[in-house]
Amino acid sequence: MENAIHSLQQEIIDFEINTPEDLETFRLKYTVRKGLIAALFSQLKSVDPAEKPRIGQLLNELKQSADARLIEAEEKAAATASESSQGIDLTLPGRRYFTGSEHPVQKVLGEMKKIFSDMGFGIATGPELELDHYNFDMLNFPPDHPARDMQDTFFITNNGNAEPDILLRTHTSPVQVRVMLDQKPPIRVICPGKVYRNEAISSRSYCVFHQLEGLYIDKNVSFADLKATIYSFARQMFGTDVQLRFRPSFFPFTEPSAEVDVTCYLCGGKGCRVCKKSGWLEIMGCGMVHPNVMRNCGIDPETWSGYAFGMGVDRTVLLRYKIDDIRLLFENDLRMLKQFTT
Ligand code: DAH
Repeated sequence: MENAIHSLQQEIIDFEINTPEDLETFRLKYTVRKGLIAALFSQLKSVDPAEKPRIGQLLNELKQSADARLIEAEEKAAATASESSQGIDLTLPGRRYFTGSEHPVQKVLGEMKKIFSDMGFGIATGPELELDHYNFDMLNFPPDHPARDMQDTFFITNNGNAEPDILLRTHTSPVQVRVMLDQKPPIRVICPGKVYRNEAISSRSYCVFHQLEGLYIDKNVSFADLKATIYSFARQMFGTDVQLRFRPSFFPFTEPSAEVDVTCYLCGGKGCRVCKKSGWLEIMGCGMVHPNVMRNCGIDPETWSGYAFGMGVDRTVLLRYKIDDIRLLFENDLRMLKQFTT
């Protein structure tokens, strides 16, 4: 018995464990309940009682040393497995994380918002799915106004007069209405956002684009206040040399109304392809808020007056970044967006 223990002890010491298969063979051969060590334990009962404690002790030591080898080999195997599966190569350069970037439209909108918020304007937003009522009626559009035409407006529902019609807003002006219904004057807000029009898609026009609306209502607000605000904005946005031109125009929700041109900031007003040789670029529509619109929103036009303006954002983005197709602003092609990661 003693000899058997010693020779098994030696066998265990000499056993080479190099592969997972070796490890498994070792485990099955020596340490399991039907293994060689357990077999020796079962012979313990036939040992001379006087010898039993000593032999028992030897057997225990044998079992412990086999278990210890097994644990050591398992740990080693686990360590090499994780090393090889991760393929650690300390000389590899670190992994680069992709950082997102602000979309060019948001960059320009951000600049515009900053300029107006420095002048004390708050920001208001409204839904892109809008009621016909806010998009047109409340803004003093006559029922048969051509802007309601199916050609321009994406109607979501069109039930005649049975139920309120829902559409994709064609401009940000309905947010003015929502703000006036919601707040008491004095009011000073800008409303940035997406608008939708059913236009022929080309490099210059798309079915969705961005506008920034402005609304200012207080006592004794005049057209001079509007001009001063627009001048200040244009100088900060397009440069201090920029000149402005206010052309009389018509919008149902303003009276008087104007369209504003700035000297083309590509050619400095000399005339180029972008400004179609005129030297001017149109940037917005504006005017004094029509008394009917104020009344529709429960604001007394005898006490209060105000101006409003609405400008396109995308054109400035295209010119600023020399992008020649408006569709690129909406397709989210990473090859284009990655150029703005700075
Ligand atoms: N809503 C007009 C458009 O989309 C732009 C506009 C003109 C907005 C005059 C205004 C304004 O607030 O006063 O063409």
